[in-house]
Amino acid sequence: MVEETVLRPADLIAPLFVVDGKGAPEGIRSMPGVFRLNITDLVKECRALARLGVPAVALFPKLDARLKDPEGTRALDEDTLVLRAVRAVKKALPGLTVITDVALDPYTSHGHDGVLTPAGDDVANDRTVGILREMAVLQARAGVDFVAPSDMMDGRVGAIRGALDAAGFTDTGILAYSAKYNSAYYGPFRDAVGSAQAAGTRLLSKATYQMNPANRREAVAEVLLDEAEGADIVMVKPAGMYLDIIRDVREATRKPVAAYQISGEYAQIHAAARLGWLDLERCRHESLIAIKRAGADLILTYFAKDMAAALR
Ligand code: PBG
Repeated sequence: MVEETVLRPADLIAPLFVVDGKGAPEGIRSMPGVFRLNITDLVKECRALARLGVPAVALFPKLDARLKDPEGTRALDEDTLVLRAVRAVKKALPGLTVITDVALDPYTSHGHDGVLTPAGDDVANDRTVGILREMAVLQARAGVDFVAPSDMMDGRVGAIRGALDAAGFTDTGILAYSAKYNSAYYGPFRDAVGSAQAAGTRLLSKATYQMNPANRREAVAEVLLDEAEGADIVMVKPAGMYLDIIRDVREATRKPVAAYQISGEYAQIHAAARLGWLDLERCRHESLIAIKRAGADLILTYFAKDMAAALR
């Protein structure tokens, strides 16, 4: 009766990895229980999630290394993997909300979220934004409900909103990765999409575009900028180590706030549970309830399916 926070399957968004071909699900060593799925299996997984009451999925493609280049050319291929996946999922499950990342890291041979400057020592912000605009329009045309710029280039939300509107996609929403920190906890995700192999390290520093973990006010500034540029949902990422930021953002905006419990947060709980040091189910629930209590309306989490099943 006096419980203040309740977690529901409807609060959860499942990030899913997709691969080309017809192969069996590929396990990811650093993410127990998470698999890269071919498109047929992806559709099945989406159906299972929908049955459990999870309203949305976020799709991430893992490209063959041979398809990557410094410019991330495959991101603008009309038949690129993630677009085929979106079309298949939306056809089978029109009512499931489908979200796709707008960023170049699954496509670049260096693993950065954008194209590089001529000197090669930083991302070229404005040239990257030009590519992201086109990428967002292709995703909208494939039928996504939300595009999710996760790249952290300056000015990209406004640019993407303009491009979507100009192409007639006024109803496609933007879930902005607004306060995305330069985190060491992204390592397992980079294994999953192969950007670690491409870059030769899973600790590639994205410090010139992602936020400094030391900063708090800047997160609110980033959120307000994205809101002014047209974001429909704003996001904080990672989640569990950034509960203060989630709370600040909750109080600074009236938009829905999403939080991304990232790969490293998931991996930590699994690793400790495997060692018998923590209880998986209780830690899973506590980690998610804490994120919701901090102020998140929506949580992207690799626990989505298991958590939704446990809540029912
Ligand atoms: C990159 C991107 C990242 C994640 C989602 N999109 C990581 C990165 O910046 O390298 C991380 C998700 C996770 O760790 O679970 N555009």
